[in-house]
Amino acid sequence: MSALSPPLPLRPGETLGILGGGQLGRMLALAAGRLGFDVAVLERDADSPAGRVAAHVIVGAYDDPEALKALAARARVVTYEFENVPAQAVQTLQQLGVEVAPGPEALAVAQDRITEKQFLNAAGAPTVAFRGADTPDEAVAAAEAMGAPVLMKTRREGYDGKGQRWIEHARDAAEVFRALGGRPVILEAPADFTRELSIIAARGRDGATAIYPLAENHHEGGILRRTLAPAIVSTALAEQAERIAVRVLEGLGYVGVIGIELFELADGRLLVNEIAPRVHNSGHWTQDGCSVDQFEQQVRAVCGWPLGPTMPHARIEMLNLLGDEVDQWARLAHDPDSRLHLYGKRVAQSGRKMGHVNKLRPL
Ligand SMILES: Nc1ncnc2c1ncn2[C@@H]1O[C@H](COP(=O)(O)OP(=O)(O)O)[C@@H](O)[C@H]1O
Ligand SMILES: [Mg+2]
Repeated sequence: MSALSPPLPLRPGETLGILGGGQLGRMLALAAGRLGFDVAVLERDADSPAGRVAAHVIVGAYDDPEALKALAARARVVTYEFENVPAQAVQTLQQLGVEVAPGPEALAVAQDRITEKQFLNAAGAPTVAFRGADTPDEAVAAAEAMGAPVLMKTRREGYDGKGQRWIEHARDAAEVFRALGGRPVILEAPADFTRELSIIAARGRDGATAIYPLAENHHEGGILRRTLAPAIVSTALAEQAERIAVRVLEGLGYVGVIGIELFELADGRLLVNEIAPRVHNSGHWTQDGCSVDQFEQQVRAVCGWPLGPTMPHARIEMLNLLGDEVDQWARLAHDPDSRLHLYGKRVAQSGRKMGHVNKLRPL
C-alpha cells in the first residue's frame, strides 16, 4: 500500500477491484455490493457476466500496464476470480500500491501442478505420487517408472478436466505428451477414491481462519455436475479435512477464500487433488446453506473485515446448469425449494457453466 493509503479495512463506499469477468467475479461483485462496496472489474471482454453488475469496467488484458494502472486508480484492494492471472499483473498492481489478495505465493503454487504437489506434501497435506516430464522420452520413462495406468496432465492451465488424459500403457506416454501440446506435464498415480470431497476455507488478514463443512462432489467428463453439502462424514474425517485446510492456509500465509479438492480413500485417508486460490464451484452451496457465503467471506477476508460464520442452516444439493440446461429456469422458478443463480452469459455453448440451482434439503 502506498504511504498515502489509509490502512485497511476497506470501508463501505470504497472500491474493490476484481481481475476477471466470469461468473465467480459476478457473484463476488454482488456480495461486495451488499456490503456497500463499489466494484471495478478488469476484463478483456467489454460485455462480461461480472462487468454487467459492476460499477466500473476496465476493458483490457490482465498484463496490460495501462489497464492495471486504471484499476489501481480505482481500487486499493484487488482480488481475482481465476488462478491463471499472470504473476506480473500482481507485481505491477503491488508496485502501484494496491493490496492484492490472495498473494503471489498462492498464485504461483496453484498455477503449476508440480509446485502445488510439492508445496502440499511439504505442508503435511498428502497427494498421489507423481513425476514431472518435459519431453516425450521423459514422459515414457516416468510412466514406466510409475507403472500404468497413470494420468497425464499439463502442468499449467488445465481446468474442467481439459488438458489431461489417462495412459493405459507406458509406451503411449510419448504420443499423449504430444497430443496435450508438447508442454511440460505431470504424471499422477491413480487415486483409488471412494468419494470426491472439497473443503472451502478462508483466512483473514489477522490470521483468523474459518472453514465450511465438507462438500461431496460428482463430476462428469471432468466438469463438476453436482455438489451435496454438508457432506455426510464422520467427525474424524471432518477433522482430518480441517487440519489439511489449516496447513494449506498457514503454509501459504493466505488471505482470502480457498477451495481444496480432496479424494477420500477406502481406508479413510484424504489426499489433496488440487487447490484453487479463489472461490470455488463446489462452494456455491454456501449461498443458500450458510448465513455468510463463500463470496461474502472472500470480500470480508481481502478487505480486512472479520470473517463470518460458516455454520450451515440447510443441506443443499447444488446442480450446475450446463449449456442449454439453463433453459429450465422457468420450471425451476416454480419450485419453492430451488434457488436459481444465473450468470447472464449470452451464449449457451454445450458444457458451458450458465448457472446453478441450489436445492434446499433438510439439514
Ligand atoms: N490422480 C487422479 N486419480 C484419479 N482421478 C483423478 C486424478 N486426478 C484427477 N482426477 C479426476 O479428474 C477430475 C479433474 O481433475 P483436476 O486435477 O481436478 O483438474 P481440473 O483442474 O480440470 O479440475 C478430478 O475431479 C477427478 O475426478
Ligand atoms: Mg479440479
